[in-house]
Amino acid sequence: MDGNGRWAQARGLPRLAGHRAGTENLRRVITASVEFGIQYLTIYAFSTENWGRPQDEVQGLLHIVADVIDRELDELNRQGVQLRHLGRLEKLPKNLRKKVLHAIEITKNNDRLILNIAFNYGGRDEIIYAVRRMIEDQVKPEEVTIEKVNQYLFTAGIPDPDLIIRTSGEMRTSNFLIWQAAYSEWYITPCYWPDFDKEEYRKALQAYENRDRRFGRLSFQQEGN
Ligand code: IPE
Ligand code: MG
Repeated sequence: MDGNGRWAQARGLPRLAGHRAGTENLRRVITASVEFGIQYLTIYAFSTENWGRPQDEVQGLLHIVADVIDRELDELNRQGVQLRHLGRLEKLPKNLRKKVLHAIEITKNNDRLILNIAFNYGGRDEIIYAVRRMIEDQVKPEEVTIEKVNQYLFTAGIPDPDLIIRTSGEMRTSNFLIWQAAYSEWYITPCYWPDFDKEEYRKALQAYENRDRRFGRLSFQQEGN
């Protein structure tokens, strides 16, 4: 969800107004995802590096998340959305942590859309955390496989992303799902996140449909070809 700050700046508004607009857009994108029949949607909301932003912006973002959970939980639940969290909850303020755990608990039996919120998430942090727990569990060297590592990631049980959309034109991964994205298709649009509406979303999905995914092999070797 990149470009909130620039969206606000372009309107002479404070950055937090951009984050609020971005959050409202998230609501629209979730609804569109349900309509498009998307099964898994992962939102990169706050990285392990975002703590380094000015304190008022960090605090503002934490408040926005708490507000969103308060305002949207019932509706998300009604739409059949199951909330999951990717990242480390320990570092969040206690009341926010409680809210997140409550939202996860309330929605755990929903299965229309699995919505992963990456908050205090970093791909490198995720891999370090996985390695530590594998060592704690005394996993043997020969047992370390792709499948084993998958089991220790925050995304355990969730398929690798087919498509990663990055708004606001930046051409980098920014520590997002660096393991899981090995063969994901990327779609980068100059559109700022608050303006990424259903039509922009549709364009991204259409672009994805036209991709030829080879996973390192040749077209004719792929299933269905
Ligand atoms: C939102 O956009 C991303 C978050 C960390 C919530 P930015 O805040 O990165 O917006 P830009 O890049 O300054 O435009
Ligand atoms: Mg940014």
